[in-house]
Amino acid sequence: MANDYEKYFIKPSIRDARKRKSQETPVIDFEKHFNIKGFGTGKTYKIETYGCQANEADTEKIKGILEALNFTESETLEHSDIILLNTCAVRENAENRVFGELGRLKQYKKNNPELILGVCGCMPQEEKVVERILKSFHYVDLIFGTHNIYKLPEYIETVVLSKEKVIEVFSEEGSIVENLPRIRANTRKAWVNIMFGCDEFCTYCIVPYTRGKERSRNKDDIIKEVKELIEQGYKEVTLLGQNVDSYGRDFKNTDYKFADLLKDLNKLPIQRIRFTTSHPKDFDLETVKVLSQGGNLMPYIHLPVQSGSNEVLKRMNRKYTKESYIELVDNIYKYIPNVSLTTDIIVGFPGETDEQFEETLDLVKYCKFEGAFTFIYSKRSGTPAEHYEDIISFDAKKQRLYKLNDIVNNGYLTGSKRFKGDIVKVLVDGVSKNNKDVLAGYTENNKLVNFKGDKTLIGEIVEVKITDAKTWFLKGEQVE
Ligand code: SAH
Ligand code: SF4
Ligand code: F3S
Repeated sequence: MANDYEKYFIKPSIRDARKRKSQETPVIDFEKHFNIKGFGTGKTYKIETYGCQANEADTEKIKGILEALNFTESETLEHSDIILLNTCAVRENAENRVFGELGRLKQYKKNNPELILGVCGCMPQEEKVVERILKSFHYVDLIFGTHNIYKLPEYIETVVLSKEKVIEVFSEEGSIVENLPRIRANTRKAWVNIMFGCDEFCTYCIVPYTRGKERSRNKDDIIKEVKELIEQGYKEVTLLGQNVDSYGRDFKNTDYKFADLLKDLNKLPIQRIRFTTSHPKDFDLETVKVLSQGGNLMPYIHLPVQSGSNEVLKRMNRKYTKESYIELVDNIYKYIPNVSLTTDIIVGFPGETDEQFEETLDLVKYCKFEGAFTFIYSKRSGTPAEHYEDIISFDAKKQRLYKLNDIVNNGYLTGSKRFKGDIVKVLVDGVSKNNKDVLAGYTENNKLVNFKGDKTLIGEIVEVKITDAKTWFLKGEQVE
């Protein structure tokens, strides 16, 4: 099998991943690639997912492929025939968690040499990661990236038959794969990819290299998927893209864009539509106006700002200013008064001064965010910011994070309190993680609510009167 195996030894290259070619995106039909049904009969798998919603959606597709091969999901790692880590490369600590887990999994491989241990997702797209796995975690059998999930049946077959490692990571994306089987994590809420990749190249960010060129899915494929979800009883879809506002920018023969897609989806009988992530530079007034029509378009927008300093934004290559961001936020509040806004912020970007950090704090206060993901800048190999001079101590960065989080947490609480006394609609997810006697679900504004109710309400949209508002959640009573 030596020759056959060699064809599965393709390592990544960040340099190649940086390239953007203008060819049109081919669409691959998975059903044509899929020919080894039954391969997993009597065997089990387990997938651990690190990373963003794009990774969670990918895990659903990987599960779909494995179950189409007749593998079943295992309850525990001990009893799995395949363990896959679907990884995230966005910050160093995300990567460290995966390396730690790989170390821990060595014992499983020892106990069961037949176990197939694989690493996929964003980390394998970096050559340094693949080198490190080959050097320090030689018991890993399978490494593949974000662009070739659809080839998984072939990889598993090769690992099993040849007993050799398979490493295949494409640095150039190129395609959109339709008709992948899918095991969704939830029976009422679904992720729907509307595009893949990212062309923004924010200077700190690894995603454009791990996910490749921006490719929009054909609108008919998206609408078809949402219609199928409606038929299956789904109540909520979240449209996924690294920059949903640039949806359609790569279409050659049509100027159909994100606002048009929202308009079309607004007409479908699905109760809730959300989307993530928005880019302030491309979020246009037309989109704001479409969202103001409400209906199934939820009053919740995640609008990452990253920094409140024009200097820093420029060095981040975010392509907007504090002023244009504020103008957008003002318009959002004007047209959608009930909206809940959240954001992402990076502190300690190389060269960020105290004054520039203070500008971020001022912006956060002004925008009345009701939540934020806040991060300490993490240097990513292969990105432009890797070479920026970074003289701020880690301790100073931590202090900035704490200071920012105080204000952010205040925003969470204010955002919760404004609903006290209101009757809100809650899509019930299940029982609360902390208290099995109460139900938990999310409001239209994406607020977590706990309330007492019958378990038959799980999966339903229920009216709840808010009786108490905490920082992280609301408490309520079902309206009979
Ligand atoms: N495409 C989305 C999400 C990108 S990753 C967007 O543009 O918002 C999610 C968040 O991780 C980013 O918004 C950013 O705040 C953070 N992030 C990305 N790279 C980072 C890095 N190198 N260090 C720290 N935080 C980072
Ligand atoms: Fe990264 Fe910027 Fe693309 Fe978001 S828009 S994925 S932060 S490069
Ligand atoms: Fe992480 Fe890849 Fe998402 S790097 S944030 S899993 S696109």
